[in-house]
Amino acid sequence: MKKPLRIGMIGCGFMGRAHSNAYNRVGNFFDQAYVPQLTAVCSRNAAATQAFADAWGYQSIETDWRALIGRADIDAIDICVPNNLHREIAIAAAEAGKMVLCEKPLAIDAADGLAMCEAVERAGVANMVWYNYRRVPAVTLAKRLIEEGRLGRIFHYRANFLQDWTIAEDLPQGGTALWRLDSAAAGSGVTGDLLAHCIDTALWLNGPIRDVTAMTETFIKQRVHSHSGEVQPVTIDDACAFLCHFGNGSLGVFESTRYARGHKALYTLEINGESASIRWDLHDLHRLEYFDHSDEGRLRGWRSINVSDHGGEHPYMDKWWVPGLQIGYEHSFVHQVADFIEGLSTGQPAAPTFRDALQTQRVCDAVLGSAESGRWADVQPSEA
Ligand SMILES: NC(=O)c1ccc[n+]([C@@H]2O[C@H](COP(=O)([O-])OP(=O)(O)OC[C@H]3O[C@@H](n4cnc5c(N)ncnc54)[C@H](O)[C@@H]3O)[C@@H](O)[C@H]2O)c1
Repeated sequence: MKKPLRIGMIGCGFMGRAHSNAYNRVGNFFDQAYVPQLTAVCSRNAAATQAFADAWGYQSIETDWRALIGRADIDAIDICVPNNLHREIAIAAAEAGKMVLCEKPLAIDAADGLAMCEAVERAGVANMVWYNYRRVPAVTLAKRLIEEGRLGRIFHYRANFLQDWTIAEDLPQGGTALWRLDSAAAGSGVTGDLLAHCIDTALWLNGPIRDVTAMTETFIKQRVHSHSGEVQPVTIDDACAFLCHFGNGSLGVFESTRYARGHKALYTLEINGESASIRWDLHDLHRLEYFDHSDEGRLRGWRSINVSDHGGEHPYMDKWWVPGLQIGYEHSFVHQVADFIEGLSTGQPAAPTFRDALQTQRVCDAVLGSAESGRWADVQPSEA
Protein backbone atom coordinates (compact mmCIF):
# COMPACT_ATOMS: atom_id res chain seq x y z
CA MET A 1 0.00 0.00 0.00
CA LYS A 2 1.37 3.41 -0.95
CA LYS A 3 1.27 6.08 1.73
CA PRO A 4 0.34 9.73 1.12
CA LEU A 5 2.98 12.41 1.71
CA ARG A 6 0.78 15.35 2.65
CA ILE A 7 2.30 18.57 1.30
CA GLY A 8 1.77 22.08 2.69
CA MET A 9 3.16 24.48 0.08
CA ILE A 10 4.05 28.08 0.95
CA GLY A 11 4.24 30.42 -2.06
CA CYS A 12 2.40 30.41 -5.39
CA GLY A 13 5.03 31.89 -7.68
CA PHE A 14 7.58 30.40 -10.06
CA MET A 15 8.80 27.71 -7.68
CA GLY A 16 5.34 27.03 -6.26
CA ARG A 17 4.39 26.01 -9.80
CA ALA A 18 7.58 24.03 -10.49
CA HIS A 19 7.20 22.03 -7.26
CA SER A 20 3.44 21.49 -7.61
CA ASN A 21 4.03 20.10 -11.08
CA ALA A 22 6.70 17.77 -9.67
CA TYR A 23 4.45 16.50 -6.86
CA ASN A 24 1.66 15.85 -9.36
CA ARG A 25 3.90 14.01 -11.83
CA VAL A 26 6.23 11.96 -9.66
CA GLY A 27 3.78 9.14 -8.85
CA ASN A 28 3.03 8.63 -12.55
CA PHE A 29 6.65 7.93 -13.41
CA PHE A 30 8.30 6.65 -10.20
CA ASP A 31 6.85 3.64 -8.37
CA GLN A 32 7.55 4.54 -4.73
CA ALA A 33 6.27 3.95 -1.19
CA TYR A 34 4.88 7.50 -0.84
CA VAL A 35 2.75 9.53 -3.21
CA PRO A 36 2.60 13.31 -2.66
CA GLN A 37 -0.84 14.64 -1.86
CA LEU A 38 -1.44 18.37 -2.43
CA THR A 39 -3.14 19.00 0.90
CA ALA A 40 -2.87 22.79 1.23
CA VAL A 41 -1.22 25.82 -0.32
CA CYS A 42 -0.57 29.16 1.37
CA SER A 43 0.07 32.71 0.25
CA ARG A 44 -1.27 36.00 1.53
CA ASN A 45 -3.96 36.80 -1.06
CA ALA A 46 -6.95 34.42 -0.65
CA ALA A 47 -8.34 34.82 -4.18
CA ALA A 48 -4.94 34.28 -5.84
CA THR A 49 -4.21 31.32 -3.58
CA GLN A 50 -7.58 29.72 -4.35
CA ALA A 51 -6.99 30.17 -8.08
CA PHE A 52 -3.60 28.50 -7.68
CA ALA A 53 -5.15 25.68 -5.64
CA ASP A 54 -7.75 25.10 -8.36
CA ALA A 55 -5.15 25.11 -11.12
CA TRP A 56 -2.82 22.61 -9.46
CA GLY A 57 -5.24 20.45 -7.43
CA TYR A 58 -4.65 21.56 -3.83
CA GLN A 59 -7.44 20.47 -1.49
CA SER A 60 -7.44 23.61 0.67
CA ILE A 61 -5.78 27.00 1.18
CA GLU A 62 -4.35 29.10 4.01
CA THR A 63 -3.37 32.76 4.01
CA ASP A 64 -1.12 32.60 7.09
CA TRP A 65 1.85 30.22 6.98
CA ARG A 66 1.66 29.76 10.76
CA ALA A 67 -1.85 28.31 10.38
CA LEU A 68 -0.54 25.94 7.71
CA ILE A 69 2.28 24.73 9.94
CA GLY A 70 -0.21 24.25 12.81
CA ARG A 71 -2.32 21.79 10.82
CA ALA A 72 -2.23 18.13 11.87
CA ASP A 73 -3.00 16.89 8.35
CA ILE A 74 0.32 18.12 6.84
CA ASP A 75 3.50 15.98 6.80
CA ALA A 76 5.89 18.24 4.89
CA ILE A 77 6.22 22.01 4.53
CA ASP A 78 7.62 23.26 1.22
CA ILE A 79 9.09 26.78 1.37
CA CYS A 80 8.78 28.65 -1.96
CA VAL A 81 8.85 32.26 -0.74
CA PRO A 82 11.52 34.99 -0.85
CA ASN A 83 14.80 34.21 0.92
CA ASN A 84 14.30 36.44 3.98
CA LEU A 85 11.32 34.28 5.05
CA HIS A 86 13.09 30.91 4.87
CA ARG A 87 14.60 30.96 8.35
CA GLU A 88 11.51 31.74 10.40
CA ILE A 89 9.27 29.35 8.48
CA ALA A 90 11.77 26.48 8.44
CA ILE A 91 12.46 26.70 12.16
CA ALA A 92 8.75 26.90 13.02
CA ALA A 93 7.99 23.94 10.72
CA ALA A 94 10.77 21.83 12.25
CA GLU A 95 9.60 22.66 15.77
CA ALA A 96 6.11 21.51 14.75
CA GLY A 97 7.63 18.16 13.69
CA LYS A 98 7.14 18.68 9.95
CA MET A 99 9.56 17.59 7.25
CA VAL A 100 10.97 20.71 5.58
CA LEU A 101 11.78 21.19 1.92
CA CYS A 102 13.26 24.64 1.37
CA GLU A 103 14.05 26.54 -1.79
CA LYS A 104 17.58 27.78 -2.35
CA PRO A 105 19.50 29.65 -1.16
CA LEU A 106 18.95 28.02 2.24
CA ALA A 107 18.99 31.44 3.91
CA ILE A 108 20.10 35.05 3.70
CA ASP A 109 23.49 34.12 5.17
CA ALA A 110 25.35 31.28 6.88
CA ALA A 111 24.35 32.37 10.41
CA ASP A 112 20.66 31.97 9.52
CA GLY A 113 21.46 28.77 7.65
CA LEU A 114 23.17 27.31 10.69
CA ALA A 115 20.17 28.09 12.90
CA MET A 116 17.95 26.31 10.36
CA CYS A 117 20.26 23.26 10.27
CA GLU A 118 20.27 23.04 14.03
CA ALA A 119 16.46 23.27 14.13
CA VAL A 120 15.84 20.41 11.67
CA GLU A 121 18.56 18.28 13.25
CA ARG A 122 17.22 18.92 16.77
CA ALA A 123 13.72 17.98 15.64
CA GLY A 124 14.99 14.97 13.68
CA VAL A 125 12.86 15.84 10.64
CA ALA A 126 13.69 15.03 7.01
CA ASN A 127 15.00 18.11 5.17
CA MET A 128 16.25 19.07 1.73
CA VAL A 129 17.15 22.18 -0.28
CA TRP A 130 16.04 22.50 -3.90
CA TYR A 131 19.35 22.76 -5.73
CA ASN A 132 17.63 21.10 -8.66
CA TYR A 133 20.45 21.24 -11.22
CA ARG A 134 22.08 18.22 -9.54
CA ARG A 135 19.15 16.22 -10.93
CA VAL A 136 19.50 17.17 -14.58
CA PRO A 137 20.47 13.73 -15.95
CA ALA A 138 23.52 15.11 -17.83
CA VAL A 139 24.82 16.73 -14.61
CA THR A 140 24.20 13.54 -12.61
CA LEU A 141 26.07 11.63 -15.30
CA ALA A 142 28.99 14.08 -14.92
CA LYS A 143 29.04 13.26 -11.20
CA ARG A 144 29.21 9.52 -11.94
CA LEU A 145 32.05 9.95 -14.45
CA ILE A 146 34.03 12.00 -11.95
CA GLU A 147 33.41 9.43 -9.19
CA GLU A 148 34.69 6.69 -11.49
CA GLY A 149 37.96 8.65 -11.73
CA ARG A 150 37.67 9.18 -15.49
CA LEU A 151 38.87 12.77 -15.36
CA GLY A 152 41.94 11.93 -13.27
CA ARG A 153 43.45 14.79 -11.33
CA ILE A 154 41.26 17.88 -11.74
CA PHE A 155 42.95 21.18 -12.61
CA HIS A 156 40.14 23.61 -13.45
CA TYR A 157 36.47 24.22 -12.59
CA ARG A 158 34.68 27.00 -14.45
CA ALA A 159 31.07 28.10 -14.15
CA ASN A 160 28.92 30.98 -15.42
CA PHE A 161 25.31 31.95 -14.82
CA LEU A 162 24.37 34.80 -17.15
CA GLN A 163 21.09 36.70 -17.50
CA ASP A 164 20.03 40.09 -18.91
CA TRP A 165 16.63 40.90 -17.36
CA THR A 166 17.55 43.80 -15.04
CA ILE A 167 19.28 46.10 -17.53
CA ALA A 168 16.31 48.52 -17.80
CA GLU A 169 16.77 51.42 -15.36
CA ASP A 170 13.01 51.78 -14.79
CA LEU A 171 12.57 48.20 -13.51
CA PRO A 172 11.30 48.53 -9.92
CA GLN A 173 12.62 46.58 -6.94
CA GLY A 174 10.40 44.61 -4.52
CA GLY A 175 7.26 42.47 -5.02
CA THR A 176 6.65 39.21 -6.86
CA ALA A 177 9.78 38.11 -8.73
CA LEU A 178 11.26 41.64 -8.31
CA TRP A 179 12.04 40.94 -4.63
CA ARG A 180 15.34 39.64 -6.09
CA LEU A 181 16.47 43.27 -6.54
CA ASP A 182 15.65 44.19 -2.94
CA SER A 183 18.42 43.10 -0.57
CA ALA A 184 16.03 43.12 2.41
CA ALA A 185 14.12 40.24 0.79
CA ALA A 186 16.87 38.55 -1.20
CA GLY A 187 19.92 38.98 1.05
CA SER A 188 22.19 39.40 -1.96
CA GLY A 189 21.88 39.69 -5.72
CA VAL A 190 23.36 37.27 -8.22
CA THR A 191 25.58 35.69 -5.54
CA GLY A 192 22.73 34.10 -3.56
CA ASP A 193 20.35 33.81 -6.52
CA LEU A 194 22.52 32.41 -9.32
CA LEU A 195 26.06 31.70 -8.11
CA ALA A 196 24.55 29.66 -5.26
CA HIS A 197 23.45 27.13 -7.91
CA CYS A 198 26.92 27.09 -9.47
CA ILE A 199 28.55 26.71 -6.05
CA ASP A 200 26.25 23.87 -4.99
CA THR A 201 27.01 21.93 -8.17
CA ALA A 202 30.73 22.67 -7.82
CA LEU A 203 30.90 21.44 -4.21
CA TRP A 204 29.07 18.29 -5.27
CA LEU A 205 31.21 17.58 -8.32
CA ASN A 206 34.61 18.87 -7.20
CA GLY A 207 34.62 18.97 -3.38
CA PRO A 208 35.16 21.76 -0.85
CA ILE A 209 36.24 25.31 -1.68
CA ARG A 210 39.06 26.60 0.56
CA ASP A 211 39.21 30.32 -0.17
CA VAL A 212 37.92 32.94 -2.58
CA THR A 213 38.67 36.38 -4.00
CA ALA A 214 35.74 38.24 -5.49
CA MET A 215 34.48 41.44 -7.08
CA THR A 216 30.90 42.63 -7.30
CA GLU A 217 29.22 45.58 -9.02
CA THR A 218 25.86 47.30 -8.73
CA PHE A 219 25.34 48.95 -12.11
CA ILE A 220 22.01 50.67 -11.37
CA LYS A 221 22.35 52.43 -8.03
CA GLN A 222 18.70 53.29 -7.31
CA ARG A 223 15.28 52.06 -8.31
CA VAL A 224 11.66 52.73 -7.38
CA HIS A 225 10.46 50.29 -4.71
CA SER A 226 7.20 48.55 -5.65
CA HIS A 227 5.88 48.73 -2.08
CA SER A 228 6.70 52.34 -1.08
CA GLY A 229 6.63 53.89 -4.57
CA GLU A 230 9.82 55.74 -3.59
CA VAL A 231 13.21 55.76 -5.22
CA GLN A 232 15.56 53.77 -2.98
CA PRO A 233 19.22 52.72 -3.17
CA VAL A 234 19.89 49.33 -4.73
CA THR A 235 22.13 47.31 -2.44
CA ILE A 236 22.28 43.94 -4.18
CA ASP A 237 25.17 42.78 -6.35
CA ASP A 238 24.11 43.01 -10.02
CA ALA A 239 27.21 41.10 -11.08
CA CYS A 240 29.81 38.99 -9.27
CA ALA A 241 32.97 37.22 -10.34
CA PHE A 242 35.23 35.18 -8.12
CA LEU A 243 38.30 32.98 -8.17
CA CYS A 244 38.82 30.14 -5.71
CA HIS A 245 41.03 27.27 -4.61
CA PHE A 246 39.35 23.91 -4.17
CA GLY A 247 40.55 21.48 -1.49
CA ASN A 248 41.72 19.06 -4.25
CA GLY A 249 44.17 21.67 -5.54
CA SER A 250 42.16 22.74 -8.59
CA LEU A 251 41.41 26.37 -9.47
CA GLY A 252 37.87 27.74 -9.84
CA VAL A 253 36.57 30.68 -11.90
CA PHE A 254 32.94 31.73 -11.45
CA GLU A 255 30.96 34.58 -13.00
CA SER A 256 27.34 35.69 -12.76
CA THR A 257 25.50 38.77 -13.94
CA ARG A 258 22.04 39.99 -14.90
CA TYR A 259 23.61 42.40 -17.42
CA ALA A 260 24.88 39.99 -20.10
CA ARG A 261 22.70 41.24 -22.96
CA GLY A 262 21.38 38.29 -24.98
CA HIS A 263 21.69 35.67 -22.23
CA LYS A 264 18.50 34.58 -20.43
CA ALA A 265 19.62 31.76 -18.13
CA LEU A 266 22.95 30.57 -19.44
CA TYR A 267 24.31 28.28 -16.75
CA THR A 268 27.44 26.59 -18.06
CA LEU A 269 30.11 24.56 -16.34
CA GLU A 270 33.36 23.01 -17.50
CA ILE A 271 35.80 20.77 -15.66
CA ASN A 272 39.27 20.02 -16.99
CA GLY A 273 41.08 16.95 -15.67
CA GLU A 274 44.34 15.24 -16.50
CA SER A 275 42.61 12.50 -18.53
CA ALA A 276 39.33 14.04 -19.62
CA SER A 277 37.15 17.15 -19.60
CA ILE A 278 33.43 17.71 -19.17
CA ARG A 279 31.24 20.58 -20.33
CA TRP A 280 27.52 21.24 -19.72
CA ASP A 281 25.16 24.05 -20.76
CA LEU A 282 21.65 24.66 -19.38
CA HIS A 283 20.41 25.83 -22.80
CA ASP A 284 21.13 22.33 -24.12
CA LEU A 285 20.57 20.55 -20.84
CA HIS A 286 20.18 16.96 -22.04
CA ARG A 287 23.67 16.96 -23.57
CA LEU A 288 26.95 16.28 -21.83
CA GLU A 289 30.09 17.15 -23.73
CA TYR A 290 33.01 14.89 -22.96
CA PHE A 291 36.60 14.82 -24.17
CA ASP A 292 38.67 11.71 -23.39
CA HIS A 293 42.40 11.99 -24.00
CA SER A 294 42.75 8.18 -24.10
CA ASP A 295 40.67 7.98 -27.29
CA GLU A 296 42.56 6.90 -30.41
CA GLY A 297 44.40 10.01 -31.62
CA ARG A 298 42.88 10.42 -35.07
CA LEU A 299 39.33 10.09 -33.65
CA ARG A 300 39.94 12.12 -30.52
CA GLY A 301 37.57 15.05 -30.01
CA TRP A 302 34.68 16.41 -27.98
CA ARG A 303 31.78 13.95 -27.84
CA SER A 304 28.27 15.33 -27.53
CA ILE A 305 26.37 12.74 -25.50
CA ASN A 306 22.58 12.83 -25.80
CA VAL A 307 21.79 11.72 -22.22
CA SER A 308 18.64 9.71 -22.91
CA ASP A 309 19.57 6.02 -22.78
CA HIS A 310 17.88 3.43 -20.58
CA GLY A 311 19.16 0.52 -18.53
CA GLY A 312 20.50 2.71 -15.76
CA GLU A 313 23.31 4.01 -17.96
CA HIS A 314 21.84 7.48 -18.13
CA PRO A 315 20.49 8.58 -14.75
CA TYR A 316 16.69 8.81 -14.36
CA MET A 317 16.03 8.32 -18.09
CA ASP A 318 14.53 4.82 -17.84
CA LYS A 319 11.62 6.42 -15.94
CA TRP A 320 10.61 8.58 -18.94
CA TRP A 321 10.13 7.94 -22.66
CA VAL A 322 12.02 5.77 -25.12
CA PRO A 323 15.79 6.21 -25.68
CA GLY A 324 16.61 9.27 -27.78
CA LEU A 325 13.71 11.36 -26.50
CA GLN A 326 14.53 14.24 -24.22
CA ILE A 327 13.22 15.73 -21.02
CA GLY A 328 13.54 19.31 -19.73
CA TYR A 329 13.95 21.75 -16.86
CA GLU A 330 10.82 20.73 -14.95
CA HIS A 331 11.96 17.11 -14.73
CA SER A 332 14.87 18.05 -12.46
CA PHE A 333 12.25 18.90 -9.81
CA VAL A 334 10.40 15.62 -10.37
CA HIS A 335 13.70 13.79 -9.83
CA GLN A 336 14.35 15.75 -6.68
CA VAL A 337 10.97 14.78 -5.20
CA ALA A 338 11.58 11.15 -6.22
CA ASP A 339 14.96 11.17 -4.48
CA PHE A 340 13.46 12.80 -1.37
CA ILE A 341 10.82 10.04 -1.22
CA GLU A 342 13.47 7.39 -1.79
CA GLY A 343 15.36 8.88 1.17
CA LEU A 344 12.28 8.52 3.38
CA SER A 345 12.04 4.84 2.45
CA THR A 346 15.74 3.97 2.76
CA GLY A 347 16.65 6.26 5.66
CA GLN A 348 19.49 7.64 3.50
CA PRO A 349 18.52 11.34 3.19
CA ALA A 350 18.46 12.92 -0.26
CA ALA A 351 21.11 15.59 -0.74
CA PRO A 352 21.53 18.43 -0.43
CA THR A 353 20.25 18.45 3.13
CA PHE A 354 20.18 21.73 5.06
CA ARG A 355 23.64 20.80 6.37
CA ASP A 356 24.98 20.32 2.82
CA ALA A 357 23.42 23.58 1.63
CA LEU A 358 24.93 25.46 4.58
CA GLN A 359 28.32 24.99 2.93
CA THR A 360 27.11 26.83 -0.20
CA GLN A 361 25.96 29.62 2.10
CA ARG A 362 29.42 29.81 3.65
CA VAL A 363 31.02 30.15 0.23
CA CYS A 364 28.52 32.92 -0.65
CA ASP A 365 29.37 34.73 2.59
CA ALA A 366 33.09 34.48 1.83
CA VAL A 367 32.51 35.76 -1.73
CA LEU A 368 30.54 38.79 -0.53
CA GLY A 369 33.03 39.40 2.29
CA SER A 370 35.98 39.30 -0.12
CA ALA A 371 34.25 41.66 -2.57
CA GLU A 372 33.79 44.12 0.27
CA SER A 373 37.27 43.84 1.77
CA GLY A 374 39.19 43.48 -1.49
CA ARG A 375 41.10 40.55 0.05
CA TRP A 376 41.11 36.76 -0.22
CA ALA A 377 38.65 35.22 2.25
CA ASP A 378 38.78 31.73 3.78
CA VAL A 379 35.62 29.61 3.60
CA GLN A 380 34.58 28.18 6.96
CA PRO A 381 35.07 24.42 6.59
CA SER A 382 32.20 21.99 7.04
CA GLU A 383 31.97 20.31 10.45
CA ALA A 384 30.82 17.10 8.78
N1 LIG B 1 15.65 26.14 -7.65
C1 LIG B 1 15.59 27.12 -8.53
O1 LIG B 1 16.10 27.03 -9.61
C2 LIG B 1 14.87 28.41 -8.16
C3 LIG B 1 14.33 29.21 -9.19
C4 LIG B 1 13.61 30.36 -8.80
C5 LIG B 1 13.47 30.69 -7.47
N2 LIG B 1 14.04 29.90 -6.51
C6 LIG B 1 13.88 30.22 -5.08
O2 LIG B 1 12.51 29.98 -4.73
C7 LIG B 1 12.06 30.94 -3.76
C8 LIG B 1 10.81 31.64 -4.31
O3 LIG B 1 11.13 32.24 -5.57
P1 LIG B 1 10.02 32.42 -6.72
O4 LIG B 1 10.77 32.68 -7.97
O5 LIG B 1 9.05 31.32 -6.68
O6 LIG B 1 9.35 33.77 -6.21
P2 LIG B 1 7.97 34.43 -6.68
O7 LIG B 1 8.11 35.88 -6.44
O8 LIG B 1 7.61 33.94 -8.05
O9 LIG B 1 6.91 33.79 -5.66
C9 LIG B 1 6.98 34.04 -4.28
C10 LIG B 1 5.68 33.63 -3.66
O10 LIG B 1 5.79 33.83 -2.23
C11 LIG B 1 4.57 34.39 -1.78
N3 LIG B 1 4.82 35.07 -0.49
C12 LIG B 1 5.60 36.13 -0.24
N4 LIG B 1 5.56 36.44 1.07
C13 LIG B 1 4.74 35.52 1.66
C14 LIG B 1 4.29 35.31 2.99
N5 LIG B 1 4.68 36.10 3.99
N6 LIG B 1 3.47 34.27 3.24
C15 LIG B 1 3.05 33.44 2.23
N7 LIG B 1 3.44 33.62 0.96
C16 LIG B 1 4.27 34.64 0.67
C17 LIG B 1 4.17 35.34 -2.88
O11 LIG B 1 2.81 35.67 -2.80
C18 LIG B 1 4.46 34.45 -4.10
O12 LIG B 1 3.39 33.57 -4.35
C19 LIG B 1 13.24 31.88 -3.51
O13 LIG B 1 13.92 31.45 -2.36
C20 LIG B 1 14.12 31.68 -4.75
O14 LIG B 1 15.48 31.94 -4.52
C21 LIG B 1 14.72 28.77 -6.84
